[in-house]
Amino acid sequence: MPSSVSNRTPPAELVAGPAVPGVAKIDPILIADKVSRHFGGLMAVEVDHLEIPRGAITALIGPNGAGKTTFFNLLTGFDKPNTGTWNFGGKNLARMPAFRVSRLGMVRTFQLTKALGRLTVLENMLLGAKEQGGENLFVALIRPFWRKREDAITERAMSLLAKFKLDTKSEDYAASLSGGQRKLLEMARALMSEPQMVMLDEPMAGVNPALTQSLLHHILDLKAEGMTVLFVEHDMHMVNEIADWVIVMAEGRIVAEGPPGVVMNDPAVIDAYLGAHHDTDLGTLTGQMEIAEGMESALVRGEIEHEIEVDLAAEHPTPDAGMTEAKVDGK
Ligand SMILES: Nc1ncnc2c1ncn2[C@@H]1O[C@H](COP(=O)(O)OP(=O)(O)OP(=O)(O)O)[C@@H](O)[C@H]1O
Ligand SMILES: [Mg+2]
Repeated sequence: MPSSVSNRTPPAELVAGPAVPGVAKIDPILIADKVSRHFGGLMAVEVDHLEIPRGAITALIGPNGAGKTTFFNLLTGFDKPNTGTWNFGGKNLARMPAFRVSRLGMVRTFQLTKALGRLTVLENMLLGAKEQGGENLFVALIRPFWRKREDAITERAMSLLAKFKLDTKSEDYAASLSGGQRKLLEMARALMSEPQMVMLDEPMAGVNPALTQSLLHHILDLKAEGMTVLFVEHDMHMVNEIADWVIVMAEGRIVAEGPPGVVMNDPAVIDAYLGAHHDTDLGTLTGQMEIAEGMESALVRGEIEHEIEVDLAAEHPTPDAGMTEAKVDGK
């Protein structure tokens, strides 16, 4: 891991009171209340109250199985809670399907990347665009406008690809990219919709060390461009490097939050981790999961294809389109 990231800005004052779990933020972009999700008898998520500060980089950490991905799935509409409400920029998002959540400006990436291997890198990017002119009949009828819009989308895609150093691969199939490049593609695709908040589930997992520095800078850039970032990560060095605020989850609950330097020394946090990693200390945890080759084949591709179908169905409503929902991640 890199030892320092030079363009880090000092964290602004984010909270009004003492850094206890659920502490109110001065300018929250996301506020969640009583969000729970159980799988049979297992309470995977049980978050009483949580606020995410706007314009900052927040890390969500915790041992394997703590409920981090499930919580992401709930917030972004890829899964449904048993209880709870949350609002994003003042809008109630609870039970809203994923495609609508992303249109409102909250996008996420997945622990296992969801780049579509059989599409080219550029085609993957175009799928991330907010609206595709050709899908709207009225816009499609005004062809010059449609062409202009499509050109603008392609231009945006190419400039994002250039930023992520994937522009020379725009015509390659996504399947030919390395694990790290697919992570970058997924992040670039998320940015196509010009989001306000980007949620990254283990952006470093499976990424070659040669790419980690550039990934760190990309995440810092998101903040510099005014976006809010919430990321899940097991790599404590990365958390220390870029997070302004750290939230700790264990057994579905928020057990601690605070600035990185404080949280890493919090006994509740050390306990939460020691429960899962008996012989490691926080400073040496890396936890980087290898992405097994082939895991993103049939199942994951099926899921994202389903999501696209749902998106298209929303653009062309049929009598039962309202019944369709984005499929739950990981099922
Ligand atoms: N679809 C599901 N069906 C049943 N149990 C599930 C499902 N998804 C998650 N779980 C369980 O819920 C708990 C929380 O899982 P989750 O994937 O959210 O953890 P996590 O914090 O993201 O872990 P990791 O760091 O390993 O990615 C785990 O015990 C997991 O086995
Ligand atoms: Mg996870």
